[in-house]
Amino acid sequence: MIEGSVCGFTMIALLPARGRWDYPPVDRSQGVVSIEAAVYVLETRGLRKAFGEGHARVEALRGVDFAVQRGELLAIMGRSGSGKSTLLSLLGGMDLPSDGQVFLEGEDLASLDDDQRTLMRRQRIGFVFQQFNLLPILTAEENVSLPLELGGMAAGEARRRAAAMLDLVGMSERRDHVPSALSGGEQQRVAVARALVIEPAILLADEPTGNLDTATGRRVVSLLRELVEKRGQTIVLVTHDPEVAALADRIVHLRDGLVESEDLPAAVLSSHLEGTA
Ligand SMILES: Nc1ncnc2c1ncn2[C@@H]1O[C@H](COP(=O)(O)OP(=O)(O)OP(=O)(O)O)[C@@H](O)[C@H]1O
Ligand SMILES: [Mg+2]
Repeated sequence: MIEGSVCGFTMIALLPARGRWDYPPVDRSQGVVSIEAAVYVLETRGLRKAFGEGHARVEALRGVDFAVQRGELLAIMGRSGSGKSTLLSLLGGMDLPSDGQVFLEGEDLASLDDDQRTLMRRQRIGFVFQQFNLLPILTAEENVSLPLELGGMAAGEARRRAAAMLDLVGMSERRDHVPSALSGGEQQRVAVARALVIEPAILLADEPTGNLDTATGRRVVSLLRELVEKRGQTIVLVTHDPEVAALADRIVHLRDGLVESEDLPAAVLSSHLEGTA
């Protein structure tokens, strides 16, 4: 059971069991953030995204509806070009949909102006990418404290929090190393710490294991799984790897810009094992 207060309304809600995907409709008719909005960190409604014009027009997303529960690790799978990265950039407010809506904790991202959306990204969304995107001239600790310092936090406090995050991802001993002195797996753990240091409502990870060997990739995903178990972190993870997806609570399959199906991890793993047998 969770108890919380959103916009001054106290609410008590029963969290649905993990793996459930028959979402009740969200009622925003009274201008009140509903119980569902407290349970669902992210929701999309009829999300569409087209690029280009005329013959060059590509419909990357063609009406995507899904919701991410609080404290859930959701994996998104699908062939190359199926719209996974496009979806993640809309979920994170990095790009705007051609049609449809994204709700972050019940708030319609379309209702925000550019400055508010930038602030929302900095304060409430953590991103992890395939290319780790660490700043090469900064140490691990400076990379992690940067988002806090950019947000106006005093340097000492930002460094203290960065050190705690590096400890959480098992990188304390390497905190004074620059990225080039770290292995790929270590750089990705620093990137995870940097994404988490702002205490985001949701962590969005686009193929975070794509540049890592299989064993290192699994360790990074195990770390994400631990963050869900121990801290209740909500995570959306794009992956091509069925064994990575098997660590998720639920898997959404995209095909040609649409949600094709949803699975529990056991189903994905068993069809993968059948395919490799
Ligand atoms: N900025 C853009 N301009 C034009 N077309 C784009 C743009 N971004 C994506 N697309 C097209 O939209 C479709 C979906 O792309 P997207 O990058 O979301 O796929 P993906 O599922 O992430 O693929 P991959 O597994 O290769 O990363 C593709 O056909 C792609 O070419
Ligand atoms: Mg992609």
